[in-house]
Order: sequence, then C-alpha cells, then structure tokens
Amino acid sequence: MIDADRLKKNWSLVAAHGDKVPLYFYSTLFLTHPETRDLFPMNMAAQRDKLVNALGAVVSNVDTIEAVVPTLQALGRDHRKFGALRGHYPAVGEALLSTLEHFSGPHWTPAIAADWAAAYELVAATMADAADAAAHYTPAWWDAEVVAHERRDLETAVITIDPKTRLDFLPGQSVSLCTSLRPRAWRHYSPANAPRPDGTIELHVRAVDGGEVSTALVSLLRPGDTLRVGPAFGSGLTLRPGSGPVAMIAGGTGVAPMKALIEQIAATPRPVSLYWGARNPSGLYCLDQMRALSARYEWLELVPCVDEDLFGSGIRVGSPADLAVAHGRCAGADIYMCGPPGMVESSRKYLADTGIRSEAIHFEPSGA
Ligand code: HEM
Repeated sequence: MIDADRLKKNWSLVAAHGDKVPLYFYSTLFLTHPETRDLFPMNMAAQRDKLVNALGAVVSNVDTIEAVVPTLQALGRDHRKFGALRGHYPAVGEALLSTLEHFSGPHWTPAIAADWAAAYELVAATMADAADAAAHYTPAWWDAEVVAHERRDLETAVITIDPKTRLDFLPGQSVSLCTSLRPRAWRHYSPANAPRPDGTIELHVRAVDGGEVSTALVSLLRPGDTLRVGPAFGSGLTLRPGSGPVAMIAGGTGVAPMKALIEQIAATPRPVSLYWGARNPSGLYCLDQMRALSARYEWLELVPCVDEDLFGSGIRVGSPADLAVAHGRCAGADIYMCGPPGMVESSRKYLADTGIRSEAIHFEPSGA
C-alpha cells in the first residue's frame, strides 16, 4: 500500500527548493539518458518548467489516481507529439527519484523510495498505455499549412491553418502548436472557429513579452509555412447544454474561443452577451469581425470595452466583468471567461463576490 500522504509531504519539502529542482532533474536526465535531450526545447528556462512540477504533483496524488485517469490518458496521448515513447518513461522515473533523493536529504528512506517508484510506475503505465492505444487511430501530431497570416497590429496576428488530415476539436478547447522557427517549444492556443467543413482553423496570437514562440508566430511566420499541431484538449470552456442566457467575459485574444462558441451556439441560438475588453482600443484587434457577427445574429449582444480611451474612440471604459454585472447579464446566466490569467482570476473573484455560483462560471484553469 502506497502512503500517498507521505509522498505529498515529501514533495512539498522538495518543491520548496524552487528552480534548483528542475535544474537538477534535467541535468540528471540528460546526463544519464542523452537521447532524451532531443525531445526538449533548446531553451530550458527553469521558471517555465511544467514537467517536473507535474511529475511531483501528479505522482504524489496517486491515492486519487482513479479520478484523474482520463486526464492522464489524454496527457499520455498528447506526449506522442513530443516524441515520448514507452522506453523513455523509466529514464524520467529514475531522474525523478534521484532528484527527490538529492533534495530530501536525511528524510529519504528506502520506504519512501519504494513508494515513489510504485506511484510513478502506475502513472507512467496509464500514460504509456493510452499513448500506445492512440497510435492505432490518431497521428502523434498534425502538419498544418499556414494559409493566411494577417498582422492586425504590432503584437497580434490572425492565422489560418489547414491541417492536412482532419483534426477534431470542440469550440472552447485548445490545441498546442510548434513552429520550426522555435523547435520543440509548444504553446497552447484556442481556435477562433467552430469546426469547418474544409477543416481550416483560425488562431489569434498575441506576441507576449519574452514569448519566443508567440513572437515568432506573429512576426516571422508566413503563408506556406508548416506548423505542428497537437491533439485538442480541455473541457473548462466547452459549451454546457441548456437554452438559458450566456454571458461571455473576454480579454484580448481571449475573444477567440468565444467566437468559436458563438459559431456553435448559432446552430441552436440562445441569448449571448459578449463583453470583450482590452487595455486600449487598438487591443480590440478584430472588432469589425465581431461587430459583423453581432449584426448577423440578433441574439448576440457585443459590448467592447477598454481600460483607457485616451483618444476618444467612444468605446466604453470599464472591465468586461464589471460591466457585465452592472448590466445584469451575469445573474442566472452560464458565464464563460477567457483572457490573461490575471484578468480571469480577478473577474472570477469579482463574480463570486457578487454572489454568482461558482458552478455557473466556466474557464480553462491557466497552465492546463
Ligand atoms: C509520469 C510521467 C509524466 C508526467 C506526469 C508528465 C507530465 C508533463 C506535463 C504536465 C507537461 C506539460 C505539458 C504541456 O504544457 O503541454 C509535460 C511536458 C513535457 N514532457 Fe512530460 N510527463 C511525463 C513523462 C514524460 C516522459 C517519459 C517524457 C520523455 C522524455 C516526457 C517529455 C516531455 C516533454 C518533452 C515536455 C515538454 C517540455 C517543455 O516544453 O518544456 N514526459 N510533461
């Protein structure tokens, strides 16, 4: 019987060492199994690391593994895009155990070592089995041609890609992308359209400060280039069944999944209010497109808003969540939110403070 409480305590002790933990993990992994180096991005900034964090958190939660089996299976299937094969799992497991041992000091015992090994084995087998099964019916990644690349402003591009083979997704889900301009570095984006008969996908990309992938996608990518795209994932923002009103709260390129959801809702319309905010009017980079949608659908209300309007564009000043609540659009509605993590978090808190039930608020947790 694995003592999961002891694993969790041990993990929090180790994780307290911060950036030193992924540094040690990757040095060990690449030294003992150099063949794994080619799976990871060139630039391995410790503060960006997701793998080591996930390893500790997921593996130490082995006592509730039943609840996360579907998530682990999806993660395993998704790992095929990195080139992770069944044979790589023991290497990662060994590097994890060496790392834990190194940072546990005197707390490391043969019993803890055996529990970590058993827990890792369970998680790894769930991921690797799902990956092997998926190999029979779905590609590890999709090669997609860039068919259009429209620069909307210095920081934002609307990109249309054409995956060579059908890529299934639901509005509100995300896909990850990798460009040969930044090899093996994957980033998540949420399609801005519901699935189309021709299979093309519209993506809204904003170059973030220091974001090597987003900057390349916005300023270097050209029509005719090829991107790698991973399988669709996520259920936080997918449409809940019902016919009642919907309130959408979006910031910046967070409007992309809202547009996809609106296209889906158009099949069985219900009242939708979209509050879309940006710092200033130029951040509302696809306002004409969104206005055209609201002119087309009488059930769709569009309220653009900005933090500041220095040049008097006439666009409302205020945050999308504040305005949606003030206009009475949130009470009794299903609420969907997407935008910068800070904005989603503050909007969520604000809605909770106004008495809105948390079950009515839908968003994709950041880092998911
Ligand atoms: C129990 C086993 C494992 C768990 C729980 C796990 C978990 C994760 C998670 C949550 C991420 C972040 C995914 C994302 O942001 O899209 C990740 C990334 C990654 N994983 Fe795993 N992983 C495991 C095993 C492996 C193995 C065996 C390999 C192969 C060597 C591997 C290679 C990678 C790579 C290359 C990345 C991308 C890293 C980056 O972009 O910095 N993982 N893993």
